Amino acid sequence: MRYSTLLVLTLGSLAAAAPRDCAQKLKEQVSPPRGWTKVKPASAEHNINLRIGLPQANFAQLEKHLYEISDPFNERYGDHLSKEEVEALIAPHDESIQLVEEWLASHGISADDLTRSPAKDWVTIKVPVSLAEKMLDTEYHVWLHDESGDTMVRTTSYSLPEHLHEHIEVVQPTTMFGRFKGMKATYHYADTERPSVDLSQPWIPIPSAYNGEVNASCNASITPTCLKELYNGVGYTPSATNANKIGITAYLGQYANFEDFHNFTAMFVPDAASSSFEVVYIDGGQNNQTLSAAGLEADLDTQYAFGLTYPTPGTFYTTGGMPPYIPDDDTPTDTNEPYANWLDYILSDPSPPQTISTSYGDNEQTVPESYAKRVCEDLAQLGARGVSLLFASGDFGVGDGDANPETQTCYTNNGLNETKFIPGFPASCPYVTSVGATWYIPEETYFISGGGFSNYFSRPDYQAVAVPEYLSKLAPGTYEGLYNPYGRGIPDVSAQGQWFWVYYAGQLGQIGGTSAATPTFSGFVSLLNDARLAKKLPPLGFLNPLIYAAGAFAPKAFNDIVGGSNPGCGTEGFNATIGWDPVTGFGTPNFYNLKDIVLGDMDLLIGGLSL
Ligand SMILES: *[C@@H]1O[C@H](CO)[C@@H](O)[C@H](O)[C@H]1NC(C)=O
Ligand SMILES: *[C@@H]1O[C@H](CO)[C@@H](O)[C@H](O)[C@H]1NC(C)=O
Ligand SMILES: *[C@@H]1O[C@H](CO)[C@@H](O)[C@H](O)[C@H]1NC(C)=O
Ligand SMILES: *[C@@H]1O[C@H](CO)[C@@H](O)[C@H](O)[C@H]1NC(C)=O
Ligand SMILES: *[C@@H]1O[C@H](CO)[C@@H](O)[C@H](O)[C@H]1NC(C)=O
Ligand SMILES: *[C@@H]1O[C@H](CO)[C@@H](O)[C@H](O)[C@H]1NC(C)=O
Repeated sequence: MRYSTLLVLTLGSLAAAAPRDCAQKLKEQVSPPRGWTKVKPASAEHNINLRIGLPQANFAQLEKHLYEISDPFNERYGDHLSKEEVEALIAPHDESIQLVEEWLASHGISADDLTRSPAKDWVTIKVPVSLAEKMLDTEYHVWLHDESGDTMVRTTSYSLPEHLHEHIEVVQPTTMFGRFKGMKATYHYADTERPSVDLSQPWIPIPSAYNGEVNASCNASITPTCLKELYNGVGYTPSATNANKIGITAYLGQYANFEDFHNFTAMFVPDAASSSFEVVYIDGGQNNQTLSAAGLEADLDTQYAFGLTYPTPGTFYTTGGMPPYIPDDDTPTDTNEPYANWLDYILSDPSPPQTISTSYGDNEQTVPESYAKRVCEDLAQLGARGVSLLFASGDFGVGDGDANPETQTCYTNNGLNETKFIPGFPASCPYVTSVGATWYIPEETYFISGGGFSNYFSRPDYQAVAVPEYLSKLAPGTYEGLYNPYGRGIPDVSAQGQWFWVYYAGQLGQIGGTSAATPTFSGFVSLLNDARLAKKLPPLGFLNPLIYAAGAFAPKAFNDIVGGSNPGCGTEGFNATIGWDPVTGFGTPNFYNLKDIVLGDMDLLIGGLSL
């Protein structure tokens, strides 16, 4: 025994002394992120699911298709690509596949040990930290998130053999510190902190609302009925229920409780009182029905998205880490990347829901640029296949989520302590629709509404008019250096985001945030998809080119929100102005007017004829 111990030690020191894997070259390096503390070296046996992203051979082509088929003025509008067509466009070169395979084999990883995405652009392997460190010439540590107490196994740099640099775009989890938080703002139990409502007049006159008025109780008390009144959608009954579906994503142990859903619908959407929804379990995700295990975010999202669209079939995606996830002393919480696991699942699905709402995200700067770009390109694939993806823009105005907007420092993660506005991701991806928040009736800007400009993604063509028009209204020098004037602006649109009634763990309470706004806007998008599918038209797919066309030419498509701002980083933030702004986008939806647009030939948009 003693002998063998000695032998191992000797081998160990030999290995340490040996020259490193021939010509490893630094692939990526990040500064230690703010708010995280490096605790100790990760245990050698801790398992990591490494995702290796190979360059997609033809993403530029895919993007070109995406913009053509999503542009209401293009004759190809709605001509979505099939799953196979998308995969053929993004498949990596054979050479990349082969060289990566050889590299993995040189570390003892055989073809049987790896999983490939359908297009073969992602390779996933499960390896112990000791092997990952060798392959990537790096050292993993346990990192502690000071505020939440979460721990993750990460590194701040990694290397790859030089000849692989052009064949591997990203390897994660390595430098990725994003956490994909739920975006819900504070929860208020019934009747606390709610502004009192003047009920002496039973109706609030709102010209754009259904019948021109909204129940006065809705001012600080949102129900699905309020939203249908306010957004001019009363009386629309979905009929394409054998084709149309709406999806809600959930992470981080957020469970949608059926009893809460049932009691919510019984009270607020009586027609849907006996309805339910499908649950899809991904990578060990669960949906624990113990009442005390209910998730506020999951309950809110399902109650509104499915309540607004009943009888459209609803799907609730609950994503865990890769099974089996076994917490250990080093990392009691899952250190894998659930969002990527959901993407693997949905990209493999031959018929995903036409509308998918996600109320999770994180500060863009916590996601390394290389990885954010890959995730965003995956989202583009779904758009090209006819899926409308909506993401919450964030709950912290232009800021970074530090509790007090007055003292937010908004430091960048580049080690320079620069102050910059902090946009949210995936909302900042140009291939998704980001949703900000309003409140009160008549509607006003809700100051929490996440907005601003991406530091990673440049301004997409569909923003070529709206965004410069907004920027031209800023006094010269405004916020210079604090934001990227050439970046993709967010949000695109908005919806109510406060005082939503929700059944949560058996109790009726009120909740807000862009978490509430996103399933709301998504609900109306799903109804628009229903209207199109019922007329045998293709679904809307990627929405933004349509939204920016409608915002420019059809003044009644959205209720423009003017006034107010989204403070953060010790500033007042941006102002909500006439037209698009980085606070509420083009504003909130007018369902029947949008329905006329998406059912008419899109000529309705040209010159804003009747609308
Ligand atoms: C307004 O909404 C409240 C609460 O949902 C409801 O009790 C009331 O009947 C509504 N008023 C009208 C005039 O419909
Ligand atoms: C709705 O509530 C807000 C905030 O309390 C208030 O400013 C506004 O006047 C109310 N609207 C109506 C029509 O009473
Ligand atoms: C469900 O949640 C409850 C309450 O948190 C917990 O006690 C129970 O063990 C959970 N059940 C499962 C199967 O995880
Ligand atoms: C950045 O600011 C923090 C907090 O004020 C300080 O502890 C740190 O030393 C600064 N770092 C640099 C590089 O200036
Ligand atoms: C839901 O409603 C039923 C019937 O009214 C009631 O018995 C039950 O306690 C309610 N559950 C919750 C979680 O509120
Ligand atoms: C917002 O509007 C106020 C009032 O008009 C103005 O003083 C301020 O400069 C504007 N801020 C920005 C960032 O445009």
